[in-house]
This record gives sequence, C-alpha cells and structure tokens, in this order.
Amino acid sequence: MKSVIGTGSALERLKKFIPASVQPKFNSVEEWQAWQEAEGRKRSEEIDKQNQRARSEKIFGRAGIQALHRSCSFANYQVSSPEQRQAYSMAKSYAQNFGGGGFASFVFSGAPGTGKNHLAAAIGNYLLAAGHSVLVVTIPDLMLRVRECYDEGQSESSLLNDLCNVDLLVLDEVGIQRGSSGEKVIINQVIDRRLSAMKPVGILSNLNYEELVTTLGARVIDRLRMDSGVWVNFDWASYRGKVSNLRAVGGKGAADGQ
Ligand SMILES: Nc1ncnc2c1ncn2[C@@H]1O[C@H](COP(=O)(O)OP(=O)(O)OP(=O)(O)O)[C@@H](O)[C@H]1O
Ligand SMILES: [Mg+2]
Repeated sequence: MKSVIGTGSALERLKKFIPASVQPKFNSVEEWQAWQEAEGRKRSEEIDKQNQRARSEKIFGRAGIQALHRSCSFANYQVSSPEQRQAYSMAKSYAQNFGGGGFASFVFSGAPGTGKNHLAAAIGNYLLAAGHSVLVVTIPDLMLRVRECYDEGQSESSLLNDLCNVDLLVLDEVGIQRGSSGEKVIINQVIDRRLSAMKPVGILSNLNYEELVTTLGARVIDRLRMDSGVWVNFDWASYRGKVSNLRAVGGKGAADGQ
C-alpha cells in the first residue's frame, strides 16, 4: 500500500515539473485528503438520498403523489383572485427557498377542491426535480400501514423512520377521521421527531385553525409554527367542476413561471 509520505514526496516531485503559470488544485497532502473526504461525504449523502427516494417509492408509489396530481405545477395553477395569487406565491417561494438552512413547515387549510393538493404537488414535483426526497401520505393511508405493521407483528418504527427521513413529508387529509386517539399519537410522534431533526412537514386539511388546534392539539400546531412556518387559508370556491377543460398551461389567468 502506498503511504501518505510517498504521496507527499510525489507531490513535491510533480511541483518541480509544473510550469509556474499552472496553479495545482492541491498544495499539500492535507488539502488533497480533505478534498477526498469532502467528495466521499457528498457521495454518501447522495446515495442516502437515492435510497430514501427508492424506499418511499416502494412504500407509497411515486413519492405518494397521486396520478391526478403528478402533472401539477406552478405553471398550470390558475389564479383568479388576489388570495389565490398569494397562495400561489407563498407555495412557490416555499419551494424555491426550500432547504437553505431553514426547516419551515406549511399548513394548507380550506374547503374541498380549492387546490391544496395541487400546490402541495407543485412544491413536491419542484423539489423532486431538484433532487430532494418528498413523500405525500394521507392520514387514513398512514393509519392503515401502521395497523398492517401491528397485524404482521412488526414494530411501526421502520415505517416511522421512513416518514422521518425524507426531506419533505406532506400529511394529507389531516382531521378527516376527526382525530382518533391513535391518529393523534402517530401525528404527534412524526411531527415531533421531524421538527426535532429540523425537517419540515406540510399539512393539508379541510379543518380551519380552531378545528386543527382541537384535533391535533395546541402542542402540534405550535411546533408547526417553528422557523416561520407558513399558514395558507384556501378560502374560495372548489375548482373541481373546471378540471376537465382548464388544465392547459398558460390558459387565461394561468400563473406565470414554473
Ligand atoms: N387554481 C387551480 N388551477 C388549476 N387547477 C386547479 C386549481 N385548483 C384546483 N385545481 C385542480 O382541481 C382538482 C382538485 O384540486 P385539489 O385536489 O388540489 O383539491 P384539494 O384542495 O386538495 O381538495 P380536498 O380538500 O377535497 O382534498 C385537481 O385536479 C387540481 O389540479
Ligand atoms: Mg386534497
């Protein structure tokens, strides 16, 4: 095996042949070793992320984003009021500023068909394209998986690990079962663990602020506000009636950008 001393003297010998105008990338063995370590770290982080993405896909389908929402983007989100424009801007800036040292969460609350999943999927698709891992899971689906673990005599801990390891976890249909006690415990655990690890959570719900506080508890809502969490009220009519003929990008009133 070649020793580090050997590498050092080889570097010294090489320097004699390098023209003065050429700046070597490393001037010492220490610099070269530090570069190798940093490259190794980057590579193993990348592999971790790839594994995480593969695991989420295996468990919940393509990052849990349902077929209806796979093509959702900021570009095909139609804006027809200042409030919708604000929701769109907040979602887009959330995606663009994701990571960057922060771990702000978001809550999209409002009536059915108002585009909560659309904008959450736009965030998810944007982040997936940027190489992040994302998982969208409905609470009923999550509770089903938890029960499957119990039925098969497994602990739910590896499921919880998967939920806690992705870069962004979106919990959908929160409160649809009006917060059974088992559901409350799981949501509490997931949010607690993620935010302690400085990883954000997205919440999509038909419940309003007061109802969410009652259903999830003030403790959870308080945690979601950490690091300037975003709260958007989707306070307009359902879009579902228009879905079949207004999906084209760039149609009248379409929001600009990606
Ligand atoms: N502003 C919009 N522009 C374009 N498409 C929209 C808009 N709002 C909603 N949609 C589309 O309408 C359908 C329903 O929206 P979405 O699934 O996001 O509703 P939701 O708020 O999550 O409703 P629910 O509370 O019932 O789950 C989706 O196909 C979505 O892409
Ligand atoms: Mg929805």
